[in-house]
Amino acid sequence: MTTHNAPSTIDARAARLVQQMTLDEKIQIVSGLVGIPVGDDGTVQGELPIPFPPELVPGPGAVGSDGYVPGIDRLGIPALQLVGAGVGVTDQVRRPGGAATVFPSPMGQTATWDPELSYAFGAALAREIRAQGCNVALAGAANLALEPRSGRVFEYHGEDPVLAGTMVAAELRGTQDEGVVATIKHFAANFQETGRHVLSAQADERSLRQGELLAFEIGITTSGVGAVMASYNRINGTYASEHSTLLTEILKQDWDFEGWVMSDWGGTHSTAAAAVAGLDQEFPLNKERHFGPRLKRAVEDGEVSVERLDDMCHRILRSLIDVGLIDSSPKSPPDTTDSIEIAGRIADASIVLLRNEGALLPLDADVLASIAVIGGHADVAVLSGGGSSAINPIGGDPVTDPNASFELFGRQVWVPSSPLDAIAVAAPGATTTFSTGDDVVAAAEAARTADVAIVFATQWTSEGSDVEDLALPHEQNELITAVVEANPRTIVVLETGGAILMPWADQVPAVLEAWYPGHGGGPAVARVLFGVASPSAKLPISFPRSVDDLPHPQLTGPSAFDDEGTPMPFDVTYDAGLAIGYKWFDTRGIEPAFCFGHGLSYTNFEYSDLVVSLDNSAVAVSFTLANTGGRVGSEIAQVYVSLPVGLGEPPWRLVAWAKRDLQPGRTERIALDVPLRRLSIWDVDASRWRVPDGEFFVRVGASSRDVRLQDGVIVDGSRW
Ligand code: BGC
Repeated sequence: MTTHNAPSTIDARAARLVQQMTLDEKIQIVSGLVGIPVGDDGTVQGELPIPFPPELVPGPGAVGSDGYVPGIDRLGIPALQLVGAGVGVTDQVRRPGGAATVFPSPMGQTATWDPELSYAFGAALAREIRAQGCNVALAGAANLALEPRSGRVFEYHGEDPVLAGTMVAAELRGTQDEGVVATIKHFAANFQETGRHVLSAQADERSLRQGELLAFEIGITTSGVGAVMASYNRINGTYASEHSTLLTEILKQDWDFEGWVMSDWGGTHSTAAAAVAGLDQEFPLNKERHFGPRLKRAVEDGEVSVERLDDMCHRILRSLIDVGLIDSSPKSPPDTTDSIEIAGRIADASIVLLRNEGALLPLDADVLASIAVIGGHADVAVLSGGGSSAINPIGGDPVTDPNASFELFGRQVWVPSSPLDAIAVAAPGATTTFSTGDDVVAAAEAARTADVAIVFATQWTSEGSDVEDLALPHEQNELITAVVEANPRTIVVLETGGAILMPWADQVPAVLEAWYPGHGGGPAVARVLFGVASPSAKLPISFPRSVDDLPHPQLTGPSAFDDEGTPMPFDVTYDAGLAIGYKWFDTRGIEPAFCFGHGLSYTNFEYSDLVVSLDNSAVAVSFTLANTGGRVGSEIAQVYVSLPVGLGEPPWRLVAWAKRDLQPGRTERIALDVPLRRLSIWDVDASRWRVPDGEFFVRVGASSRDVRLQDGVIVDGSRW
């Protein structure tokens, strides 16, 4: 593990380096390039996915990743090789040896509610990044999954800012402890893909501070992350990459962020305005470049001060020094052999048991003579999400022809991990059959004659586009209905980016949400189906019954396009304010299909003896948790708080949780300190957090709606 340097040493070293840099060198490190792989002789390796202007193509040394910044040898500053890493190490521009482990999607990781697993992911990711010659991870998407139709929700960490921020921070720490600079993105309000380059997310200050920005605040201030990526969109009219309130006042001043802010790829819209507002580094895509020579001119003309340029460089260098990247001793190649095991461990803990009527699950391998597995390419693979986080999976894609397109971005990537094989291994005495599901009649027939039918239903989502509604695509609803009509002992396993609608939910006795489970996905699903692993995950998002129950039943898109078909700027107004996700359902009294925090187990947990008290800086919450069922299991006990009335707050907010493994019959006393900051509101007039006066209620339960214990506490806000 890396020993982080003491802050004063880091700053002193960074300042010395900046002092020695020429103007051209300073411009060079703040002006990124596309990381096209270039051999030692300066020739581009392989083909290019899209044409790039020559000035954006790197010189020798780029290993082939999303971004590249040439190093400065005479000062010992290494080249930056930035690589997409939301779900594993990506290979968008195809570098030799670019195949990598696919981990469960961040939404699935968040369903574990286990920061230690996020840390393990971040660290394993970093080891693969280093093994592939890269040194900056473009991961850590902390945007709230506020728009369930967004094509990127699978990359996000749920709808609650405390949960999302905590999980992201753990991942970022894991990455940086392995000597790789981590990035948190997309700062901020990248809630939907439709029109993301032109839309303005319209939201009020308090809702932003208590919602989206709180996830980033926790993610950034509790991790020491080295870089922040600005989002593509505008916020209240101004592009995030030139938003001085966001980048300078909030991020760098309020939160004391000392690292650097990079643009998203092609997300810079100005030179001096962006630099002065707080953007420290540009990554162009394939068109205009705003830093590079233009920034040099702006500095020479005095539009951007030398002090500001020095600060941009200082920030980059201090993050490199902090993780040990400016270090003369060469690092030994990291051991990445445990990656797939870690991916499998996270997958086990990420699968949510949504429904289990009549205790159909766990399956008993000893009594099953036949199992019909249907759909979702479950004979060979599990699904993964698309866009810049798509991975070239180790072992190859067994479904989509790898030659179908050069780019991974728009390709449906399937990960070689067979649920069918794992089910057959788990139930060696049973005959296991597979039907693709393309022929509904044949699938129903296979189900009719089997002891149990397991349908794998998939929904591919991707960066760059949103889903129209939340329905499962390709007539899978019809398939599921036909199968459950043929065999009432039907289990549906979902591989989806986020929430979907389940019109058949009342008919199907057992439903598992496996998200995009990655390389360990097939065995993890089988372990949960057969009770080798007890399901312990809980939903990090709400599943609505209908899109009509969402704040906006329809996604807001552009209403006009220019001659080239590019959308004209438009606003998306987040008028639900503080009521994001479950807070919306609670405020409106709407019953979701499955609520935030929901997830069943094969055992039972009882809660008792809640004690709530106030000390100087925290509300102390303690209670007893008992496993009263017959199996070992793990529970995620959740603590929610309601604020005094009259503040315009949603009824409940998550403030803490505890995850415990308990043997049957065992009891544990759990004590959690809820910092008063978690009880506070953003006071717009005073521009600070404020703990209100009055009576707070504390709820402890198994989900946001399965309340087991409740108590109140009076707080005198003037004391804090
Ligand atoms: C995405 C970023 C990503 C970048 C580089 C962009 O399309 O929005 O999340 O890191 O590409 O791959």
